[in-house]
Amino acid sequence: MSGVPEAGSGLARWFGSFADLSLADQRAVAELVKAGGAIQGSVEDIMPRLRRTRIMALLREGERGRIVGAGALKVPLRRYRQGRFANAGASIAGFEEAPELGYVVVHRDRRGQMLSGDLVEAIAAAIHEPAFATTDSNTMRNSLERSGFMRVGTDWQGSKGTLSLWVIDPGRVMLKGRLNVTQIHGPNSSHR
Ligand SMILES: CC(C)(COP(=O)(O)OP(=O)(O)OC[C@H]1O[C@@H](n2cnc3c(N)ncnc32)[C@H](O)[C@@H]1OP(=O)(O)O)[C@@H](O)C(=O)NCCC(=O)NCCS
Repeated sequence: MSGVPEAGSGLARWFGSFADLSLADQRAVAELVKAGGAIQGSVEDIMPRLRRTRIMALLREGERGRIVGAGALKVPLRRYRQGRFANAGASIAGFEEAPELGYVVVHRDRRGQMLSGDLVEAIAAAIHEPAFATTDSNTMRNSLERSGFMRVGTDWQGSKGTLSLWVIDPGRVMLKGRLNVTQIHGPNSSHR
């Protein structure tokens, strides 16, 4: 699945599977993710992690130009997911298999152009099952909220800053405000 609708600022948006990118583009995405600091390690370390993502959203300067933004829906390890919910003190019920929105990064010389919201929105629009995200970025927190994610549990201290846990469940009504996940799956919840 891929496409190149205009995303604003003269950029083209690409959406699809990491495996569908050329090797040069795959390496460019890995370089970008490395520069963003979401994964420590070399590009060679990062490539296999990106291959395991389910979908990617990219922003590039023209259809074949430089890749300047990326975000992904990834399938984390079970113990990593459990750790995130445990850190937040939130129930994982309904999110035991949830993919995670992450690896959102905008190239340094393209920051401040409101591109991160577009990336988050593109991925959120493709989510059809319970999913989660964790972030220590205030900008990301705002983008997640704009895209329908809800903050759950309690924030905790990560290595780089205060982390918060966010969830989205497209099959359920997400009540406004900060809730425990279990409340989202309460008996009164209904389909959107
Ligand atoms: C985090 C990061 C992706 C944000 O991108 P950015 O280019 O710096 O920020 P943007 O220009 O997209 O956002 C600027 C403001 O516009 C807002 N904005 C962005 N897109 C928007 C949209 N579509 N509609 C409305 N507002 C929008 C943002 O919320 C932000 O305001 P805020 O900080 O008050 O919340 C970027 O700084 C980055 O790559 N950092 C390194 C990697 C990283 O930390 N990633 C997050 C990991 S969880």
